[in-house]
Amino acid sequence: MIRTSWLPFSRKGVTTSLETDRRDLDVPLLTLPGGSEWTARDACNGVQVFGAIGSGKTSGSGAAIALALLARGFGGLVLCAKPEERSLWQRYALRTGRLNDLVIVSPVNPSHPCRFNFMAHELNRRGAGAGQTENLVKLFSIVGEIIEGKAAQEGPDFWSRSMQELLRNAIDVIALARKTVSIELVSRMVVTAPHSVAEVSSEEWWDTSFCGQLLRESKTAAMSPETAHDYELAVTYWLETFPRMADRMRSSITATFSSMADILNRGLAYQMLGTETELVPEVMFRSQKVIVLDLPVQEYGEAGRIVQAIWKYMTQKAIERRDVNAHALPVFIWADEAQNFVSPYDFLYQSVCRSARGITVYLTQNISNYYALLGNRDQANSLLGNFQTKVFHANADAPTNAYASEVIASEMIALGSGGTSTNPEGERSSSFNVSQSLQSKVLPAEFTTLRTGGPANGFTVEAIWFQGGRRFATNHGHPFVRVSFRQS
Ligand SMILES: Nc1ncnc2c1ncn2[C@@H]1O[C@H](COP(=O)(O)OP(=O)(O)OP(=O)(O)O)[C@@H](O)[C@H]1O
Ligand SMILES: [Mg+2]
Repeated sequence: MIRTSWLPFSRKGVTTSLETDRRDLDVPLLTLPGGSEWTARDACNGVQVFGAIGSGKTSGSGAAIALALLARGFGGLVLCAKPEERSLWQRYALRTGRLNDLVIVSPVNPSHPCRFNFMAHELNRRGAGAGQTENLVKLFSIVGEIIEGKAAQEGPDFWSRSMQELLRNAIDVIALARKTVSIELVSRMVVTAPHSVAEVSSEEWWDTSFCGQLLRESKTAAMSPETAHDYELAVTYWLETFPRMADRMRSSITATFSSMADILNRGLAYQMLGTETELVPEVMFRSQKVIVLDLPVQEYGEAGRIVQAIWKYMTQKAIERRDVNAHALPVFIWADEAQNFVSPYDFLYQSVCRSARGITVYLTQNISNYYALLGNRDQANSLLGNFQTKVFHANADAPTNAYASEVIASEMIALGSGGTSTNPEGERSSSFNVSQSLQSKVLPAEFTTLRTGGPANGFTVEAIWFQGGRRFATNHGHPFVRVSFRQS
């Protein structure tokens, strides 16, 4: 039975050595069969949990990992697909003495002021690279992808080069007109931009157009030679390129931009992400806050998904650029029903978050969820390759079970390439001479025999725990082991 390695978290009376210990990546989170430990360092390599509906993901491995992360004092972000996620984390926080660190982000009953103007935050945050036009263009593009729900394709797709050109030129002018860049202002500028050369030379247009007003105000700003160069390009764009564009092209760019802007400029997205900034992702590692985004997709639908996905992206960026010397404790991003939140950017994040001590824990039913979302198998497989810990609960889904056996078999072949070896626990084991085809035969069947919790199973949940590069002495040095969790 897997147990959380409890070390109750307390800020009071923590000695220097304990402080150091707490910050150590080798702190155990869970004790695996045979007594070997699963540490924060392992968690930073990513965790993916698979299992059928009702197989015990949430109440089995999910609960054990969540309690361990909280017990160690880590901060993090909790994305919510189901309405019960918030109360679940409140119970976890109560059990681990972390209630004071919980921040519930909700448009209804927030536990803390929780509005987050992500764009203003990108412009105003401290640090190199903050506030630069290209960062904002990139941010808009990512937000466009989030709204679209899939990666932007090359060619005449949503976030084409022309869209980025429009954004770049709008942002430069708005910033030089000493206004705070926001989607709202970019929208107003685009809507009032000149549609013909005649408009550019009309006094009426200059007197009534918001775009004209911005161009006039920006002209007087003090500029470095580099800024002046970019500004000239922007002016040329608005006064020559844009009005001379073919009508169809201009209206297509404008419509594409407006469809995204409209979502962010109204309703839940505007309320939570478009006004004030009262809460920022950095509190997760500066003061170990656990931010629960109580905007469950099942209740708030697409708007809930978009707001959470933007929060997630901003958190990933904040984790990536944080100074781990100043803020050493790992920080986590948690998504149960992760198919709602997986994004193409995750792949890039997963490949760098280990050094930034970022822990990602994703739970989902099956691999097909990711295939559908990320558009193709290669992208999903590359992302999953970056999760070193994979937990497989009971599942009758053939592609997921085949994937599990493939992952395990190829790891065994990689690990078992010669004679007797010594595992990380110092125990010797014979190398296994198991062919991939044999594994493929054995393992899928095993996934249907795992216990799924509830009274019929004595409240026990079972899973296959796989870890890349690890050899479990209790399972002949194989990189996986059968584990069980007690529901509570
Ligand atoms: N705390 C608990 N104590 C006892 N039984 C539970 C508890 N939580 C859930 N169960 C039962 O255990 C089984 C597994 O539930 P769980 O919610 O963990 O599955 P899941 O894999 O997360 O499912 P889903 O994909 O629907 O989220 C279900 O039959 C459920 O009714
Ligand atoms: Mg669940």
